[in-house]
Amino acid sequence: MRAEAAQSQERARRLALEPGTWSRDEAAGMAAEFDAMAASWEGDRGGYRPPVLADALARGGPFPAGRAVEIASGTGLLTELIAAHWQPVLAVDLSRGMLARSPARHRVQADASRLPLPDGCANAVVIGDGPLFAGEVARVMADGAVLVWSNALGTGAPFHLRAELLIDAMTAAAGRAWDATTSEAYWGSWAVLRAR
Ligand SMILES: C[S@@+](CC[C@H](N)C(=O)[O-])C[C@H]1O[C@@H](n2cnc3c(N)ncnc32)[C@H](O)[C@@H]1O
Repeated sequence: MRAEAAQSQERARRLALEPGTWSRDEAAGMAAEFDAMAASWEGDRGGYRPPVLADALARGGPFPAGRAVEIASGTGLLTELIAAHWQPVLAVDLSRGMLARSPARHRVQADASRLPLPDGCANAVVIGDGPLFAGEVARVMADGAVLVWSNALGTGAPFHLRAELLIDAMTAAAGRAWDATTSEAYWGSWAVLRAR
């Protein structure tokens, strides 16, 4: 694994388990990092990202119908796949540069640590290589909703989190037990989580 990815994974773990450590400065740094990568994002990474989420959506069901929130939606590489399962899809990203390139019909520039959304509004929350702010994810999920998590480069992905850690973070945040279905796909891995 690249040293840079290992450092990012450490941050991903910290945010999942200690979201209070996320600061405005850190958010500004993250936004600037992705603003700078936005123009070349799809050229470098366009091919290998969607198949992992496509596999999760093909094999991780059954899924409830309804509305989806895509957190860390970036330039929208995954949005069309999500829209084939849920309508409408609200694409949320911190980086204006990434979001400006997204073809999503509904987009909002926002920090996933403070979603500008009401409680229980989503039947699915989808995060493809983004941070997990478990309290906010649990808050916006309706009864019976699913959390779909994918890491396009599996254990080498900068935002990779193990399924066990995802379960622990969601269980702690929601105050009830969660289960996950998980698999590897192509170069990546995915998990689908549901509250018990
Ligand atoms: C690795 S990219 C993934 C983008 C897209 N999901 C894809 O697969 O191409 C991570 C994205 O997460 C976004 N992001 C990072 N921290 C965030 C936060 N706190 N709230 C919302 N989006 C965030 C970044 O701006 C970036 O677009």
